[in-house]
Amino acid sequence: MEAVGRALDNRKDIWCSRSAGYVETGNGSMTDLLRLDGFDSGMGHISSENWFEYVRQTCETIGLAADDEYLEVGCGTGAFMHALVPAPEKQVGIDYSANQIKVAKEFKSDQMMFFEIDANDIHTLKKKFDVVLVNSVIQYFPSMEYFLEFFDKVVAIVRDGGRGCVLDVNDIEKKDEFTRRRYIEHGGKKKYRERYKNLEHAFYSRDQILETLKHLGIGSVRIEDQFIRNYRNSEFRFNVFFEK
Ligand SMILES: C[S@@+](CC[C@H](N)C(=O)[O-])C[C@H]1O[C@@H](n2cnc3c(N)ncnc32)[C@H](O)[C@@H]1O
Repeated sequence: MEAVGRALDNRKDIWCSRSAGYVETGNGSMTDLLRLDGFDSGMGHISSENWFEYVRQTCETIGLAADDEYLEVGCGTGAFMHALVPAPEKQVGIDYSANQIKVAKEFKSDQMMFFEIDANDIHTLKKKFDVVLVNSVIQYFPSMEYFLEFFDKVVAIVRDGGRGCVLDVNDIEKKDEFTRRRYIEHGGKKKYRERYKNLEHAFYSRDQILETLKHLGIGSVRIEDQFIRNYRNSEFRFNVFFEK
């Protein structure tokens, strides 16, 4: 069985190598941050313009306020945080990739703090937040045990009356079609399997997420289809919003 508490696979190295050396040469533009965060090609491409629209709509949905204490788990280089409206005065981002965090720290604004922490170690922050957001991260989780432990910790770290958002979640109902499209995009099943061996995405069912949150005492949950303009992964993804 996979270890619970830390994600032990080579994805972490892959995320680290994406941003290696960037601070020495880059200028922290949104286009670059999106590329380093993996939204740069094929079905996963998102333009800066469409990204700002997505983040703004998400902020409206959660009713983000400037005095909300905000935590982003798996924040990457901070692309989501730089687009928040209004920009909360206190923002914390955590990610397990040392190089993503290095970039995030280099280009941060005054109200942001970043830490290199695994998603399942968020309790070590020893603090609660008004808003906890996780965008396009849980597809990389190594096991169902890891996912369950993570949800437990996310709910625990949201302040009473606060909100949680887990966004861009792979929908298990659409796994076959998603996989078929990925094969096409990567030149066929064989090439795809060679390239992504042991790097398969995790998929989740909406009912499973509802049940998990119900079990943790969260009754107020909304699940919506993902929509980001021209982001071809959208049709295979959903977003979860809950209130504690
Ligand atoms: C697709 S990027 C998304 C980054 C950011 N949330 C955004 O929307 O721009 C996925 C990020 O999740 C991070 N990540 C994946 N699994 C993680 C884990 N178990 N703990 C912490 N970070 C993780 C990766 O290092 C990467 O930065």
